[in-house]
Amino acid sequence: MPERRIVIAVDGFSSCGKSTFARLLAARLGYIFIDTGAMYRAVTLYGIEHGAVRGGAIDRDRLVGMLDDIAIAFRFNAARGASDIYVNGVCVEDRIRGIEVSEAVSRVSRIPEVRAKLVALQQRMGAEKGVVMDGRDIGTVVFPDAELKLYMTADPKIRAHRRYLELQERGEEVSEAEIERNIRERDEADLHREISPLRKAPDAIELDNSRMTLEEQMAWIEPILAERIHAAGGGDKNGK
Ligand code: DC
Repeated sequence: MPERRIVIAVDGFSSCGKSTFARLLAARLGYIFIDTGAMYRAVTLYGIEHGAVRGGAIDRDRLVGMLDDIAIAFRFNAARGASDIYVNGVCVEDRIRGIEVSEAVSRVSRIPEVRAKLVALQQRMGAEKGVVMDGRDIGTVVFPDAELKLYMTADPKIRAHRRYLELQERGEEVSEAEIERNIRERDEADLHREISPLRKAPDAIELDNSRMTLEEQMAWIEPILAERIHAAGGGDKNGK
């Protein structure tokens, strides 16, 4: 039977291990992994560097006017074993996770023109299938017909603890209570924004990984993958 590739949408809250899980899933299947949060972050960084986003203020019209000048692409970085994000041919992977971008990105991602541009690009990137895309609106807006939709959640206290350990490892001292507050605030913003809020698609499968290791999550998904790939009309017995 010919190989049949599918689209896998992974939506969910921030800091619940979505990207790690989605990246591993893509590697397991030989699919492309697309981190759509990185795309919103890249537009935000461009806005900061070109004077449309300054501190707390966003010059919305100016940013919208710049959108046609922003070409976003992913390129595989063999050393990292993952894709880096590029803006106009320049790798910005190391600059999009900083505090300035993190603080402005949720407001940039509320701008309808920004979403329209990035959603269209995401749809083109997934047109050939064989992608695992992680975000907030992938199963609801970007690929409502995705063959497999996952909705990831985890207890905010457990997410805060994981994040705390990560930051400690990097030598950053932040209190766990502060991290938890920040996570709860971001959940509220994601759930209650007007445009494309985070919500579970009716046909999405929920994965609460509060008490699961990454290995357990991968074992959990295996039979689901095999079934969905088979239902799409292809794949060998390993689901490949
Ligand atoms: O997943 P992340 O924290 O890197 O996402 C960064 C921001 O982009 C976050 O504020 C949510 C937003 N986002 C979005 O609105 N839609 C997506 N598909 C992905 C991310």
